[in-house]
Amino acid sequence: MAKLGDENSLVPKYLQEDELGKECKELIQTLPLEKGWISTHFHQYQGFWIGTRILQGVLSCQKHFQALNTDILLVTTPKSGTTWLKALTFALINRKKYQNIHNFNHPLLTSNPHVLVPFLEVDLYYDKDYVPNLNSLSPPRLFATHIPYELLPKSVKESSCKVVYLCRDPKDTFASLWHFSNKVRSQSSGTLPLEESFHNFTRGVTLFGPFWEHVLGYWKESLERSNKVMFLRFEEMKMKPDFHLKKLAEFLECPFTKDEESKGVVDDILNLCSFEKLSNLEVNKTGKVSFGVENKAFFRRGQVGDGEKLLTTEMIEQLNTVIEEKLVKHGFNF
Ligand code: A3P
Repeated sequence: MAKLGDENSLVPKYLQEDELGKECKELIQTLPLEKGWISTHFHQYQGFWIGTRILQGVLSCQKHFQALNTDILLVTTPKSGTTWLKALTFALINRKKYQNIHNFNHPLLTSNPHVLVPFLEVDLYYDKDYVPNLNSLSPPRLFATHIPYELLPKSVKESSCKVVYLCRDPKDTFASLWHFSNKVRSQSSGTLPLEESFHNFTRGVTLFGPFWEHVLGYWKESLERSNKVMFLRFEEMKMKPDFHLKKLAEFLECPFTKDEESKGVVDDILNLCSFEKLSNLEVNKTGKVSFGVENKAFFRRGQVGDGEKLLTTEMIEQLNTVIEEKLVKHGFNF
């Protein structure tokens, strides 16, 4: 196995001294290593594949993040609809503050959803030497993460904070991830070979993969503690967005009133957060998020079924077999 600091290390040299804390560097030496999809590399930490810099963020966040009972944590595997969920939840919980969505002062009109709802591990706890002071944020504090259930900071599991998990069909998640990775990889790295990426996805080697372990962790928890973990599906939300937004509001203990419903507040939020609206805003066509990705990379098509267009019949069969083995046997299906 290649090791950090080895001549043949897969870890980029620039990361070795500057950006990783001692604890992270020592840990990495002991972990299985794989080549990443974008520029970073993956380390298998407690069963999950995590990029080098992000692992630093996960460790810092586990150590320092103190969840409050009033917090809301949005969780996804990458490319499952995080941007949409962030926008919807932000608009939902702030609807009293920004009552008239048609006014031009709504933050979603001028800020990318990733700016309004930071990721714990890639925004807030990314820097090894920096512990953000989150005390001044007024409740409910809204954060996001891709961290698997098993690796969540202890305080998230032990407090009564709410966790909302959004999952997406693995074929579409894979397709979205493959397109996204190709968009944000350096040009000199070339396009990721589809077969190789698919092979890696099916053996679980993907950011915060295995995909199915990620899903299963939150799904089981949502069954055991339904008032703590809400489990949503991208496809169902696309089909009945109003129904699921109302359910989300109930789960977060801020249900829509009859008056709000009759005034069309549900539809206003859905329209504001729709793919068409967000992707056409100037702010989302330009600029970058804190971790360096262009805002526009988070908006591609936002549709159901792209996986079937990208993958061959054999690939779909292969993925179905994996899903059967890893999820359906546990009672979960897509
Ligand atoms: P596609 O690549 O299939 O188009 P994430 O936000 O987790 O990074 O996921 C990105 C995926 O969500 C992309 O899927 C993107 O187009 C889609 N998406 C982004 N904003 C959306 C929205 N408002 N509604 C529906 N899908 C959206």
